[in-house]
Amino acid sequence: MEKYISIKDLEDAALQTLPRAVRDYYKSGATEEYTLAENRRAFQRLRIRPKCLVGVTDCDISTTVFGEKVSMPVGISPTAMQRMAHPDGETANVKAAEAEGVIYILSTIATSSIEEVAEAAPKAMKWFQLYIYNDREVTRKLVLRAEQAGYKALVLTVDTPMIGIRRADVRNKFTLPAHLKLANFDGFLSTKIHNTGEGSGLNNYVESLFDKSLTWDEIKWLKSITKLPIVAKGVLRGDDAVKAVKAGCGGILVSNHGARQLDGVPSTIEALPEIVEAVKHYNVELFMDGGVTTGTDVYKALALGAKMVFVGRPALWGLTVGGQEGVQRMLSLFRNELEYTFQIAGTPTVADITKDMVRHESAYSRL
Ligand code: LAC
Repeated sequence: MEKYISIKDLEDAALQTLPRAVRDYYKSGATEEYTLAENRRAFQRLRIRPKCLVGVTDCDISTTVFGEKVSMPVGISPTAMQRMAHPDGETANVKAAEAEGVIYILSTIATSSIEEVAEAAPKAMKWFQLYIYNDREVTRKLVLRAEQAGYKALVLTVDTPMIGIRRADVRNKFTLPAHLKLANFDGFLSTKIHNTGEGSGLNNYVESLFDKSLTWDEIKWLKSITKLPIVAKGVLRGDDAVKAVKAGCGGILVSNHGARQLDGVPSTIEALPEIVEAVKHYNVELFMDGGVTTGTDVYKALALGAKMVFVGRPALWGLTVGGQEGVQRMLSLFRNELEYTFQIAGTPTVADITKDMVRHESAYSRL
């Protein structure tokens, strides 16, 4: 794994290895992919303002989330159907998270079940991502199983009344390879994704099974069936963040779904400040994902008010390249780059990283 010295190296290697339909599914954004590019570019428009000679001998990049310690402010975002990347799929990914002391979020649309993932990594801090199905019994059972298997939070995706248009998936008639199934379900829910007609099999699946009548009231129902903290994933507006908190969410994951839902929405690092401002008087933990590929990206998100960031695609690239070992390599690259960034920026702990550590490039543009 030593030959991969950046997330970009892992990405390049993975893109060369994966079969076309899988590669396209993982890498695509919605329609023209403007937001997909912006998720990365917007980080480049921010400048870090290091403090010199502050004494950084005791550097500590760990943090706490919902009162629990994690080894660094980087976790693994939910991505669907990970056995397409590697035969061990989600179980390898969660073992890497366990070994590295970071949070792993399992997708509802997974190719390993809630229980398999829990057994593979009993000590990992695991959260479960939730889609709400038309049939509430389906969702209720998933929630109870996640609770029983020791998952510590529910991550409710709030940006997906339907799946965005990803042109490559339409062209490829994307579907889950026949030897795999959606492991959180039995019967037709586990295989319906294979019955693709025209276009993307995933779009057809979601169109027929997910509830698009959802409103923020649904959080009340969720809270009536679980005591787990609920994180709303996919929020891009301050007023929605306030609605999420008022509905009872304990966390907000600022996300544009890897730029896969609606093209033209802001990059997540651009959306973050509005949300930080909107909920500053509430007790809620803010996270972000989208376009994070370096330690300095993570640092910029922390400076702008995120408690931690999550990475989705980088874990898929690591998984493709080397299973558990590849994901661990990805995480250790982030860890190493973060340790450098914390020290050279003169902020040896997360508590030292204040908003003034970062400025938009326009502040320097008069030169
Ligand atoms: C996706 C869904 C499944 O982005 O979350 O493909």
